[in-house]
Amino acid sequence: MERLVVRGGRPLCGEYAVPPAKNAVLPMMALSVALGGELRLLRCPRIRDVEEMAALLGTLGVKVRREGEDIRLDAGKISSFDCRHPAAGQMRSSVFLLGPLLARCKHVVLAQPGGCVIGSRPIDIHLAGLGALGVRFEWQDGVLIGNAEGARAGRYRLPYPSVGATVNLLIFASSLGEVSVFENVAVEPEILDLVALLRRCGAKIEVFGREMRVRGGVLQGAVWQAVADRIVAATLVTAVATCGGEVRLHGIGRPLLAPLWDKIENNSCHLTAWCDTIRVLSSGRGQAFSVCTAPYPGFATDMQALALAHNACAVGRAIVAERVFEGRFALARELRRMGACIRVEGRVAYVEGRRLHGARVRVPDLRAGAGLVLAALAAGGTTIIEQLAPIDRGYERIEDCFAGLGADILREREIE
Ligand code: EPZ
Repeated sequence: MERLVVRGGRPLCGEYAVPPAKNAVLPMMALSVALGGELRLLRCPRIRDVEEMAALLGTLGVKVRREGEDIRLDAGKISSFDCRHPAAGQMRSSVFLLGPLLARCKHVVLAQPGGCVIGSRPIDIHLAGLGALGVRFEWQDGVLIGNAEGARAGRYRLPYPSVGATVNLLIFASSLGEVSVFENVAVEPEILDLVALLRRCGAKIEVFGREMRVRGGVLQGAVWQAVADRIVAATLVTAVATCGGEVRLHGIGRPLLAPLWDKIENNSCHLTAWCDTIRVLSSGRGQAFSVCTAPYPGFATDMQALALAHNACAVGRAIVAERVFEGRFALARELRRMGACIRVEGRVAYVEGRRLHGARVRVPDLRAGAGLVLAALAAGGTTIIEQLAPIDRGYERIEDCFAGLGADILREREIE
């Protein structure tokens, strides 16, 4: 087991190239199953979720090869539509294989998907949406079996703009002739990037706000670089706002960070954007800000932990409300070990900013892990962060990123 040792209190200075987004890359890797040619994803992040998705695709017969920074996925021969690989039970994004496998094989077998412990995470909207296109599902002892024989284009209004359900509907509809219409879809930047890739592969997709019209057909391979990871970028922006310093982020513009930008910019933190670079300049210990998470273009739930950690170290009081997932405040308990003043009532956290001190903490989930790193970088003294596996799902060696900006952070083997 590994842990991070962080000695806080240093400003962050330097440059960082933001990698493509995990939450764009994972559905794209799944899409490869439905393509007639090779998909080459440029600058694919080296994170555990990508490795596990690659392993899972391998069990289905997809040839996955890493070539330097890129990943090539060739689904010329699919040998199985059964996703009950041990990796699938651990990975929420295995659910992204529903649409692609139904498109390609007309059948799918899926274990109940796992993922971060942030809520119950049902898949009823995925099933109802695909059902509206004629896919039949049944559960047998916790295993989902889907059959798309006789499926055809159709119309479906999502009761909630679920990201994962939108992915499955877009990919499956892109394999059908005729036009499918979806209302109240998710419009996260990662979804619009998937739409752009599907168009490149040959699908005709029109977007009118939250309505999408999809005319499918035979999908070709493509070469693609996914949109920049706005959550990784937000991690750096909030870290600089908390610790002080000056950092330039390359490969990302203002629009992807707009909801955070408007909240975090104040007298002590200035952001400037030009071309695809953002500069963050901060004197440290910024002003606390209140947020309420919502589907895009609202404040992203994946940035909520960053806001919570920032506020715990900031000046003033704030309210952080979580409206997307019902159980995403495990970070509060860990931050309290560092002296944070946070009271959680249901889906709302009331925070009073303090100067935090080092402590021994554990990573409860991916984004909470990033929040802990941020708090540790700002705290006085040494923080030991244990159980790193969730962080490694979504960040490429987070310690290298911050050490490269001047932080005192290193990864070491846990002493048993
Ligand atoms: C995606 O999860 C992301 N994961 C999440 O990122 C992100 O937090 C989330 O979208 C919201 O932006 C990936 O892209 C791999 P949803 P997803 O379906 O698709 C409810 C991270 O840290 N819902 O939009 O699972 C659900 O319970 C992660 O990178 C249903 O009720 O999110 C939740 O409350 C974690 N029924 C809400 O909708 C359904 O059928 C949003 O879920 C589907 C969802």
